[in-house]
Amino acid sequence: MADEEPADDVELEARLAEQEVFEPPESFVEQANVTDEGIYEEFEGNWPECWESAADLLSWYEDYDQVLDDSNPPFYEWFTDGKLNASYNCVDRHLDERADEVALEWIGEPVDEANRSITYEELHREVNEAAAALRDLGVGEDDVVTMYMPMIPQLPIAMLACARIGAPHSVVFAGFSAEALATRMNAADSEYLLTCDGYYRRGDPLDHLDKTNEGLADVEHDVETVVVDRLGSDGFGHELTDDQHDYDDLLAAHEGATVEPVERDAEDMLFLMYTSGTTGEPKGVKHTTAGYLGWTAWTTKYALDVKPDDTYFCSADIGWITGHSYIVYGPLALGTTSMMYEGTPDYPTRERLWQIIEEYEATQLYTAPTAIRSFMKWGAEYPANHDLSSLRLLATVGEPINPRAWKWYYKHIGGEECPVVDTWWQTETGGHMVTTLPGINDMKPGSAGPPLPGLDVQIVDTHGEEVEAGRAGYLTVQKPWPGMLRTLYNNDQRFIDEYWAEYSETDSDDSDDWVYFPEDGAKIDDDGYITVLGRVDDVINVSGHRLGTMEIESAIVGVEGVAEAAVVGGEHDLKGEAVYAYVILEEGHEGSDEMRARIVEGVEDAIGPIARPEEVVFTPELPKTRSGKIMRRLLEGIANEEELGDTSTLQNPDVVEDIRGKTGDD
Ligand code: WTA
Repeated sequence: MADEEPADDVELEARLAEQEVFEPPESFVEQANVTDEGIYEEFEGNWPECWESAADLLSWYEDYDQVLDDSNPPFYEWFTDGKLNASYNCVDRHLDERADEVALEWIGEPVDEANRSITYEELHREVNEAAAALRDLGVGEDDVVTMYMPMIPQLPIAMLACARIGAPHSVVFAGFSAEALATRMNAADSEYLLTCDGYYRRGDPLDHLDKTNEGLADVEHDVETVVVDRLGSDGFGHELTDDQHDYDDLLAAHEGATVEPVERDAEDMLFLMYTSGTTGEPKGVKHTTAGYLGWTAWTTKYALDVKPDDTYFCSADIGWITGHSYIVYGPLALGTTSMMYEGTPDYPTRERLWQIIEEYEATQLYTAPTAIRSFMKWGAEYPANHDLSSLRLLATVGEPINPRAWKWYYKHIGGEECPVVDTWWQTETGGHMVTTLPGINDMKPGSAGPPLPGLDVQIVDTHGEEVEAGRAGYLTVQKPWPGMLRTLYNNDQRFIDEYWAEYSETDSDDSDDWVYFPEDGAKIDDDGYITVLGRVDDVINVSGHRLGTMEIESAIVGVEGVAEAAVVGGEHDLKGEAVYAYVILEEGHEGSDEMRARIVEGVEDAIGPIARPEEVVFTPELPKTRSGKIMRRLLEGIANEEELGDTSTLQNPDVVEDIRGKTGDD
């Protein structure tokens, strides 16, 4: 806590609190992959050919004819008629120089210390054997293969094996329910599944095959299933059925097999990813081979500054897009060492992540604001016990990061010597879109930064006109980019409706009339730095004023003693909507009237009396989706005293009733 810190730390804290702009550390700039700020102008003047720089990071069987075919917007095609294979690009081509270097550094749950350092040569062998086994099971080019696995090495290996034989994968996050698995398999007509017997969580074995089988019972067609044995003797003793095959047996039967990588067209589908959409049918986001792989490689190199000799650590789960793009495809395309961690950051102790970074001498850490807020809540003493000096760059993704958490990350994890890159992007964009380039741009905590070179991002009003600097509007992307989704699987119309209809002239075949709308609110400052305010469905309207719930949350989290906050709109007779704030406090702080007053004051100070919370509810937890996103809609339901419907898909369903009991009782 601040009052126990030595005097120089207090001074430093005060200075940090004031500072709004941070220059990239010189030691970083000296070695950065890109340092020439001319890149912005150069890309703008040479668009779309500038994106040859992404294609140039890949190895091709046949060169492409055209960088961009925009003749049928919004169905853009990139690097047309080029031929390549993603598995070749992520594995084979590194063998000449890096066969003995580690490709995947797998750190298992501490319980059985089943760590594996998988070299490129070993990865090549196992990907080939898996590809041969899948082919023998009947998997053909363009068959969708579903994967329902936690953070075990067989997951990226299976993804690369599929890429090798031209079978798109559809990874379903292992924490999702049986029903979610079935819905996705049915939607994609997927006849193949890779899963596992179970896995460890905080030292205890979990039965995953039972959940898998429950899901399979609801799949409308026959499925061949491959089961990885993760638990060994800790397993649950399931007998495999006739259409269930043991992964190790299959690989043993294909020992030493090699499979020629299939020459895929640039625009052939690499994978499908269903977004966890809180309502309605999940959206099957389709990504293609060249544009996606080029985009992830380019952004991994330039925004995350990854080099082949790095030991790069992204703490996301491969079941989400961040893990696809920034644990598997981007890093492996560059031939670096990518770490993957099976466990949680606080098991067996709150030092786990820092101990791993120290032990493996990780050079980058890419994590999410929600994790950083937990680290803050636990306290700086845990990272302080470890030598984190191997870190060169820190990154965040997933939601806006409030300046206080940014500065904590910068100071306590980066030792003020690592740039922090705040990367705004989505499942649909394939990779980063708005972020500083760490060797070029100054950083402004809370603002993701300028759009990447070659991207035309504008903040517009409801009519699509650009808003003035400082005013809230809607984030739009006015020109296509290689990593973009190509459509929603089997649903071109929904693709247009969800992402384009809002700001495009949808009867036009001139690509200038088409504007991509990611459904985020944002504002831009005089330097062109973009602050993302959150999903526009999270914007609330208080007395005719539009307020970003994220902005209010940021203000609340800025109050000393607050760990996390979620703000929603509740109906209000006079104001239309009023601000309801749900707040988690740091350990050692109490939900007193005094604290409530400080929170209200913090919001009034940061935004104005208009954003003053009607109610502040202290709670030990917030309802979160399995992916860790706060379920604001549920909180809105509580604030408005509505029926809440099914809450069983939450990470923590019990917290809902607890919060409901506390809302409106003071
Ligand atoms: C939000 C995750 C602010 C945003 C890669 C977006 C962010 C949604 C940031 C996509 C960031 C992601 N700052 N907001 N740096 N990164 N978001 O598809 O609302 O899981 O639309 O992709 O997360 O979430 P998704």
